[in-house]
Amino acid sequence: MKAQLETIRQSALEAITAVQAGPDLEALRVKYLGKKGELTAVLKQMGKLSPEERPAMGQMANDVRAALEAAIEGQSAALSQKAMEAKLKLEAVDVTIPGRKPVQGHKHPMYTVLDEMKEIFLNMGFEIMDGPEIEQADYNFTKLNAPENHPSRDWTDTFYLEEDSSVLLRSQTSPMQIRAMEGYGVPIRMISAGRVYRKDEVDATHSPMFHQIEGLVVDKGITMADLKGTLNAVIREIYGPETQTRFRPHHFPFTEPSCEVDIRCHKCGGKGCSTCKGEGWIEILGAGMVHPKVLRNCGIDPEEYSGFAFGMGLERLALGRYKISDMRLIFENDMRFLEQF
Ligand code: PHE
Repeated sequence: MKAQLETIRQSALEAITAVQAGPDLEALRVKYLGKKGELTAVLKQMGKLSPEERPAMGQMANDVRAALEAAIEGQSAALSQKAMEAKLKLEAVDVTIPGRKPVQGHKHPMYTVLDEMKEIFLNMGFEIMDGPEIEQADYNFTKLNAPENHPSRDWTDTFYLEEDSSVLLRSQTSPMQIRAMEGYGVPIRMISAGRVYRKDEVDATHSPMFHQIEGLVVDKGITMADLKGTLNAVIREIYGPETQTRFRPHHFPFTEPSCEVDIRCHKCGGKGCSTCKGEGWIEILGAGMVHPKVLRNCGIDPEEYSGFAFGMGLERLALGRYKISDMRLIFENDMRFLEQF
């Protein structure tokens, strides 16, 4: 029996120290120490021993059990240590690898121009307002004095959302004039920028969606001189102090008198080229003195108050500011183009 125990001790210790994986270790524990294990089998024979032999054998069996248990525990600890080391090695961070630089975007050139515009007008005491892109025909046309038969009201020119032509994608930012006067009364100095929609084909200077910035000033004693002075100052801030402007008579239903404002062609300096279509001038905005009917539509007495308004295309402004030749570039979001700004 002593020899049996000794064999178990030796072979078990050998096997335990050779084990490489947790489950194998558990199998060994069952093999030697389990209910049907080898050590247990030996202990069951204890009854056959004489009373004198029993204590010594019992002691030895306990020693073997303790030795095996200690060996299993030791090996188990060693295995987890090894596993942890392997894991750490696998997950090690090489702090010497150069970092990845995230690609950082920047403002779209048109929004840079818009921000410049806002800054200029804020410095002149204007407020910035926002309005809906889905607009009522009442605001987009009727209150702006656009007659029933005005071509821009036609289904071929405007995106209507309702069969009865009552709701549409605004075709201009001018409805903001009405919303501003109705909402805040007079005196008022405001600008409002945003998207507008027209059924235009896409070409180098047209798109069915584009951006406008609208301005409105209403107060006592506002004249055409204020309109010219303000717009000239803004244009020279944007295009440079030497920029020449031209105010041409025009017609808008909601202003009287009305004008369009041109600047000297930035490409040819006035000689005539493809950018200005040989004109030497480029039209950049529409403006005029707010029509008395429009003031009255907003509950303002035109005998007491007068004002001017203007509206301009932001894309065109950006084209001129950065000398870009084709408006489609503004919308295409081609990185090769955008990265140049
Ligand atoms: N809303 C006009 C347009 O889209 C521009 C404009 C605005 C003209 C304000 C006069 C006054 O063409």
